[in-house]
Amino acid sequence: MDEMNRVIVDLGDRTYSVVVGNGARSQTASLLPATARRVSIVTQSGIPRHLIPEFPDHVVTIHEIGIGEEFKSLSTILELCSAFAQAGMTRNDVVVGVGGGMVTDIAGFAAASYHRGIPVVHVATSLLAMIDAAVGGKTGVNIPEGKNLVGAYWQPYGVVCDLDALDTLPAREMRCGLGEMAKYHFIAREDLDQLPFPQRIARSVEIKAEIVSADEREGGVRALLNYGHTLAHAIEIETDFAMAHGEAVALGLLFAAHLAEAMGRIDADRVSEHYRVVHDVYGIELSLPQGLDNGRLIAAMGRDKKALESITFVLDSANGLEVVPGVSEADIRIALTAFTRRLS
Ligand code: GLY
Repeated sequence: MDEMNRVIVDLGDRTYSVVVGNGARSQTASLLPATARRVSIVTQSGIPRHLIPEFPDHVVTIHEIGIGEEFKSLSTILELCSAFAQAGMTRNDVVVGVGGGMVTDIAGFAAASYHRGIPVVHVATSLLAMIDAAVGGKTGVNIPEGKNLVGAYWQPYGVVCDLDALDTLPAREMRCGLGEMAKYHFIAREDLDQLPFPQRIARSVEIKAEIVSADEREGGVRALLNYGHTLAHAIEIETDFAMAHGEAVALGLLFAAHLAEAMGRIDADRVSEHYRVVHDVYGIELSLPQGLDNGRLIAAMGRDKKALESITFVLDSANGLEVVPGVSEADIRIALTAFTRRLS
């Protein structure tokens, strides 16, 4: 692989590139649609300014959104769309989201909604956004009834993963990205840990790109990207988001392994392999937040938006990950008990 990796998300006439490498932000202008005269940058105050690309040939406005899950809301979308209108943005212009997953989810949804949809380019500045949130077109915000419950599939025009951003990334955000990266280890059943870190990022993007190209709207294989997410969403809700998404996903992967074991799908060695990958390979410290109640976690998992008539999980097997509907509460209880015991 050369220094700047280009991964293609193959979606017919909506195909786009994800550029991965140190200094990749300098490529952003080349990804904009040729029609664009104005660029509305959506970012957050904590994002280092040197990571924001320059667009000398465009009229640029910058919009900062608030920090914290409470700003991932329809009010923020309304504020952004008003700001776009005041900046004179037309459907030929472009939104550029510069930030982590919260920024790219919001910038993407605002772009999907404004003028019924205008182009968006994402400049991912967190590991989690690089390998997951910014790629694949899922956008959205929270409502009181649930996380990411309102949104749209809106594929970006291009994505930039500038690895320089990782130099200044807080340790906690790095840990969140590593939780999602461990997920790809199990999806692809590859030893990603054999790769140098930049190539591991590029390979994670490639795995996601292949899945999105095969199943853009999650009718099938894309659901595998939710591995570990059912318990993760429940933990996020039960801790009032004190535990961040990627941290919760790391725990969710381990719980999913216990559940697969409880259902006779994998053996104890494979469960231990999950712990090895998450803890030893990706260096994620494993501890459960205080005060979690198994009954409340089960109820929250039942409400997860991916559960239809019964609780559906992505679970491991000898043949790899599979979507398994109709998982019984008894098996979930056995797995939660085994999981919490092992972590206490
Ligand atoms: N983050 C899961 C997906 O993009 O489908």
